[in-house]
Amino acid sequence: MTDLKKYTVAASGKMRQVAYDKLNNAVNLLAWQQSGQVPQKQFDEWLSKADALYSAANIKIDENMLNKAPRLKVIAQAAVGYDNIDVAACTARGIAVGHTPGVLDDAVADLAYGLIIDSARHLVRGSRHVRSGRWGERKGLGLSCDLARKTLGIIGMGNIGSALIPRAKASKMKIIYHNRHQRTDDSKLGAEYVSFEILLEQADFIVITATLNPSTKGMFDSKAFKRMKKTASLINIARGAIVDSEALYNALVTGEIAYAALDVTDPEPLPGDHKLLTLDNITVTPHMASATVETRDAMALLTVNNILAGLEDLPLPAQVPDQWVDA
Ligand code: DGY
Repeated sequence: MTDLKKYTVAASGKMRQVAYDKLNNAVNLLAWQQSGQVPQKQFDEWLSKADALYSAANIKIDENMLNKAPRLKVIAQAAVGYDNIDVAACTARGIAVGHTPGVLDDAVADLAYGLIIDSARHLVRGSRHVRSGRWGERKGLGLSCDLARKTLGIIGMGNIGSALIPRAKASKMKIIYHNRHQRTDDSKLGAEYVSFEILLEQADFIVITATLNPSTKGMFDSKAFKRMKKTASLINIARGAIVDSEALYNALVTGEIAYAALDVTDPEPLPGDHKLLTLDNITVTPHMASATVETRDAMALLTVNNILAGLEDLPLPAQVPDQWVDA
């Protein structure tokens, strides 16, 4: 086995302790284990000597950053999404790119299911109502709606979409989905493939789990909202830019759709005075779908394993699909 201590690994953000300990044992680790961001000057100096990058906090990895890091063999991102990385530029430089699929599916699907239930059953609105001291008023919150027999539309049927299905089935929902390509296992999944337009028209709850790419950016625009049911809710646990925030605001204000529950936003972080936050028919959580102790530890360890494999010139346990040989 190669002695990896000769390799330098830089981390762009705070790592889970399990990952820090494992990596620190194996390599020469340059990490910022304090709160806040590593100062840019310090980070640039680390990059100049780094053989690998532990990418935390979704930093932008483009030509400009890569030019500062001439020795990089591998970049491992502690997230499943990697739209912040110019993968083509990495591939051109022979840099392997890893991410963390699989290990966060249950945690993210749980949050998506929670946001579906919130949209239907007014959990956040109910809590706000009580805190405002208006519980005793005759005019309450109004009635919510059942999930049973409603249609859930999933945009992007990958690991997370699939993990959401049994949860929604527990609430007796019917499931339809839209993907770039129809899957071959619809009957096993228990979901029906439909076009984007049909999904917009039929779904009572739409959950976005797709990746952000040129074909999904701004997919939920004013035209899409006009096609949705007025009683429908939109839940986004994927990437904020898949939804046009201005169009969403208008759809929520004019009643084109009933509710939105977002774990991701555009911009992100969403400023506290953003106009979306002035609305009553929205729940916003701070991009926390994978933020459980167990899941973040698993993501961090997979990130470390991607780095160690890359330093040894071995196949990464989880390399991004764009770099798969037959991609
Ligand atoms: C991911 O892994 O891409 C998630 O968005 C992090 O919560």
